[in-house]
Amino acid sequence: MLEKYGHGGDLRTAEESYGLPAGQFLDYSSNMNPFGPPPAVRQVLTVYADHIDRYPDPAVRGLRSKLAQLHGIDEQSILIGNGAAELIDLVVRQHNPVITALAHPSFAEYGDAVHKIGGGTAPIPLTEAEQFQLSEASLQQSRAADFFMLGSPNNPTGKLVHPELLRQLVKRGATVVVDEAFMDFVPDEEAYSLLQEAAVNDRLFVIRSMTKFYAIPGIRLGYIVGEPGSIAALSRLQVPWSVNSLAQLIGEAVLDDKEFAGKTKRWLQEEGPWFVNRLRESGLEVYPGAANYVLVRLPEQPGLTAAALQKEMGQRGILIRDASHFTGLDERFCRFAIKLRAQNERFLQVLQQAMAALQTYSGKEGMEE
Ligand SMILES: Cc1ncc(COP(=O)(O)O)c(C=O)c1O
Repeated sequence: MLEKYGHGGDLRTAEESYGLPAGQFLDYSSNMNPFGPPPAVRQVLTVYADHIDRYPDPAVRGLRSKLAQLHGIDEQSILIGNGAAELIDLVVRQHNPVITALAHPSFAEYGDAVHKIGGGTAPIPLTEAEQFQLSEASLQQSRAADFFMLGSPNNPTGKLVHPELLRQLVKRGATVVVDEAFMDFVPDEEAYSLLQEAAVNDRLFVIRSMTKFYAIPGIRLGYIVGEPGSIAALSRLQVPWSVNSLAQLIGEAVLDDKEFAGKTKRWLQEEGPWFVNRLRESGLEVYPGAANYVLVRLPEQPGLTAAALQKEMGQRGILIRDASHFTGLDERFCRFAIKLRAQNERFLQVLQQAMAALQTYSGKEGMEE
């Protein structure tokens, strides 16, 4: 199982499991921008390598200022973190909520952060019948909650949450944290993002990751937007110098690469529907979303589970996410990243081979019985 530590993209476990060197895998189990890091990342690493003999700016002023300009918000409304993961943990610790409402399925770190502080959870069931779309009806069970942690686009479904639903929760008196880790991939993100509203509302927070869009998960970089008073309180809980100097400089440099951002959005608009159609032609049930990954359900075929397919594909050099580990999904759900055309063609070929191999094994087992 690749999700030994709870997430996709674990190449060390892949090496140990399938006996190939990390560099040889095509990783569809984590959702990075397939254009790879923008060229500015390597430049920063080369030019500023010497700067590691100094402490990083404890207030991350350069990057905060750039992000404030980009989003048209006050710098004091932004706190930078060592990846969005740090900020999920921090915002939960700061609020210490009694009952947190969590969508199922959703990113496991929300629940993990809540359980770490001994908080309770209320489920918001997302159903296959509703295409895993969060609706007003699905919020009914979470009436007792005073705190909401929701992904938009949600992981692993890729579905956006309608901003009006989120505004209603805030109006109702709840504190709402929206994880917009994959929002930069959405072509009309301004129509869905609550980032600007969060900058002036003390019951609304928006978390952004820079690791997916800029393909720098090894660097760790994300930010949270909230009303300045709430951000100051969060900052007091953060470990000093949590964001290292190279991460700060990389964050500033990649924001300047507008061509990279435009190219990425255009690619996903074209490649996403193409990939979804090919997966459907392969017999999979696909739940398309707005992000750079897709949730699928495997056809009913003896021996064809997400775990078996993961192993079969892993041995052929392609890593996929077994989505049965997400609460609310069964053993036939998988999540695949979307990459460039040539990679996707290779992926589809290997998928067919792996499904055929599993059919052959289960046929043999049937004969032996
Ligand atoms: C929905 C979601 N939020 C946050 C994160 C964490 O992102 P980061 O790498 O910035 O910590 C992930 C990582 O997979 C994610 O899927």
